[in-house]
Amino acid sequence: MHPRENCFITDNLPMFSGEDMKVSRVPKALPLMYPCPVTLVTCINTKGQDNIITVSWMGVLCSDPPKIGIGIKTDHYSLGFIEESGEFVVNIPNDKLVEEADYCGIVSGRDVDKFSKTGLTREPAKFVRAPLIKECPVSLECVVRERLDLGSHKLYVGEVVGTHVDESVMDARGNIDFAMAAPFVWNDFEYWSIGEKMGRLGFSKGKF
Ligand SMILES: Cc1cc2nc3c(=O)[nH]c(=O)nc-3n(C[C@H](O)[C@H](O)[C@H](O)COP(=O)(O)O)c2cc1C
Repeated sequence: MHPRENCFITDNLPMFSGEDMKVSRVPKALPLMYPCPVTLVTCINTKGQDNIITVSWMGVLCSDPPKIGIGIKTDHYSLGFIEESGEFVVNIPNDKLVEEADYCGIVSGRDVDKFSKTGLTREPAKFVRAPLIKECPVSLECVVRERLDLGSHKLYVGEVVGTHVDESVMDARGNIDFAMAAPFVWNDFEYWSIGEKMGRLGFSKGKF
């Protein structure tokens, strides 16, 4: 059996023949990228109502100016908030918050106030109106610079205009101590911790 025989299979894609196998089927086209960060994005609408949405379809897009992209499904309650305000905050939870992150990713702000249900604490941001989440050691305040309809999701490119790092996760040199920050990731429907440090930039050439 081909090792990927048990993967998602689609019937409408072409079949390939190879020398080593009689027939191998092409797995369904999926955005199977792993790991993905698990973040708690906070947003606000023009009435001043806020919300939390768990977001993993996201990443750094540019260093200078610092820009982050998030993909938000078009029928999510949060989408209208980000559309209206042109702002969002990316809060990076630690592994103690995995249950809260899961909850904010399966219920809608249309039905519940996720802050009161999870017990997470709002904290005022410095440059945007959407709140920070106090329990998250790192929060990035973002102003939307670009929007792109992609299909099921809309891409928002946010410029990071404010960065908050809790002192409790900083090392002596002022860098983030990732053992303390303890982020976790999304691997195809599962939450995983990130494990051990393996090296530092340039270690392969004996640098640092
Ligand atoms: C780990 C995880 C990651 C998620 N990532 C995204 C994402 O990147 N974009 C998105 O639109 N929805 C994502 N979701 C789903 C939303 O968080 C979920 O549908 C949420 O209930 C929408 O909330 P809202 O209706 O209050 O906006 C994710 C859910 C989980 C559990």
